[in-house]
Amino acid sequence: MKLVTLPSVKGDYNLKSYEDMYTSFDWKDVEREFSWSETGKVNMAYEAIDRHANTFRKNKVALYYRDETRNEKYTFKEMKDLSNKAGNVFKAYGNVEKGDRVFIFMPRSPELYIATLGAIKLGAIVGPLFEAFMEGAVKDRLEDSEAKVLVTTPELLKRVPVDQLPALKTIFIVGSDIEEDDKYLDFLKYVKTASKDLEIEWVDRTDGLILHYTSGSTGKPKGVLHVHNAMIQQYQTAKWVLDLQEEDIYWCTADPGWVTGTSYGIFGPWLTGTSNVIVGGRFKPEDWYKTIEDFSVTVWYSAPTAFRMLMGAGDEIIKKFDLSCLRHVLSVGEPLNPEVIRWGMKVFNKRIHDTWWMTETGAHLICNYPCMEIKPGSMGKPIPGVEAAIIDDQGNELPPNRMGNLAIKKGWPSMMHTIWNNQAKYDSYFFPSGWYVSGDSAYMDEDGYFWFQGRVDDVIMTSGERVGPFEVESKLLEHPAVAEAGVIGKPDPVRGEIIKAFVALLEGYEESDELKGEIRQFVKTGLAAHAAPREIEFRDKLPKTRSGKIMRRVLKAWELDLPTGDLSTMED
Ligand code: WTA
Repeated sequence: MKLVTLPSVKGDYNLKSYEDMYTSFDWKDVEREFSWSETGKVNMAYEAIDRHANTFRKNKVALYYRDETRNEKYTFKEMKDLSNKAGNVFKAYGNVEKGDRVFIFMPRSPELYIATLGAIKLGAIVGPLFEAFMEGAVKDRLEDSEAKVLVTTPELLKRVPVDQLPALKTIFIVGSDIEEDDKYLDFLKYVKTASKDLEIEWVDRTDGLILHYTSGSTGKPKGVLHVHNAMIQQYQTAKWVLDLQEEDIYWCTADPGWVTGTSYGIFGPWLTGTSNVIVGGRFKPEDWYKTIEDFSVTVWYSAPTAFRMLMGAGDEIIKKFDLSCLRHVLSVGEPLNPEVIRWGMKVFNKRIHDTWWMTETGAHLICNYPCMEIKPGSMGKPIPGVEAAIIDDQGNELPPNRMGNLAIKKGWPSMMHTIWNNQAKYDSYFFPSGWYVSGDSAYMDEDGYFWFQGRVDDVIMTSGERVGPFEVESKLLEHPAVAEAGVIGKPDPVRGEIIKAFVALLEGYEESDELKGEIRQFVKTGLAAHAAPREIEFRDKLPKTRSGKIMRRVLKAWELDLPTGDLSTMED
């Protein structure tokens, strides 16, 4: 069933009229809101925290934190002091200087946020690592970035192959009863006694801020480097798209290991001086609704998989909670099904607003704004200051309603600065005519709304997490029984896609369910739980090109009963 267009809803939004703004807007106007437009020197952590701590927001709650054992809140002033202390600890005991990579590998907690801000205050580049990463994934990232300092917990430290990481000089451990030596230091002990006065490192707007590793269809995960300049767009979209206002209580459900958890879990909300709710622990429908009720969350940013899981938990649970505080609900990461929007209207009496962007883009690009009509199933329209188009493989713009590559005109403020150690990879994203090619296919309708159609490449989106098939295949090949492996995304009603692996075994190994389970576990413990194939199918041989590349599109066609297309490059 197709939903009819949902009319715009009247409200006192930050962005009153999309059309007016789209033609008159200039990013330079946003720059003027920050002090650095005069000095030219900037620091994200100062703009996000300290700036507010010096105003009427001083005693406003910046961070509400809750998990199974903790329930805490921190004002902007407290966040300023604590991040200064963290900065002093990194400086004194980790010799952290501008440009050094400081990686943070820990579950969500106030300390994660304080450490991140403290490192940024020194001009360091922060690399957040998702807590579910296992040894192989952790090693790849710390090795490629040559991280000098790591902040982690005793539990997660077990997954860090410290001996194999010569660049890693100091490891700060967050926990209790830490046994110290010259490499391993008790973070909290030093924070406690550190000074709360810190000299902030003022950097150029194009200096490194954050390094997010993300997957493509080939090669290992790549480090997408964002710079302090991203704040311009993160701030402005937090205003226009998240519609954050002074009284709002905002909850972004994403972990800082993923870009949504930094751009809109740290920077966007705090740049606008908003109270930010962070919840640790695992997803449980009842806990989520309780979070909204207990904190009186007004703006809620989550993902289609989460909404679908809540939907699956049934509407009866919802009746136990008062969710009338919700004012604005948003989604990111995968296509937002019209069915989910219909459910949102029914249970929250709210339109769920889709937003489209990527790790590489640093901030929202195509969105449904609060003031806009929503066409369910469409990602919305480009934000003011951003030009989007559908182009063909030669870089020519296509007319409305033609499917092609979703592309963005280069030059939006939060665009990635480079790919770490791989400028050629960075360059490969762009057409000479200045279009950034997203890797998504889409079309634009006659009203300028964009409709997502799929990935052009083989990247898998499972539960909103981006997984590169190559990374999974490489891990599968390390298993002693595996001769060949090909990995695809298989459509799934809840998770968007699940990971399916086709595996050819080496001589002497018997196909069995036990072996499937063992192989699955091997990926789970070697890489990450979310990267482990939910389905494994044994085949005698996998389809390959004459040069030996696994043809994933053929595997996908087999799986989905689709035509296999051109097979001329396939080996006999
Ligand atoms: C997909 C997440 C459909 C898309 C911020 C993109 C979406 C990839 C949407 C980036 C959406 C993101 N509708 N698909 N609203 N938002 N995607 O880097 O394929 O983890 O290229 O960034 O997610 O994933 P990433």
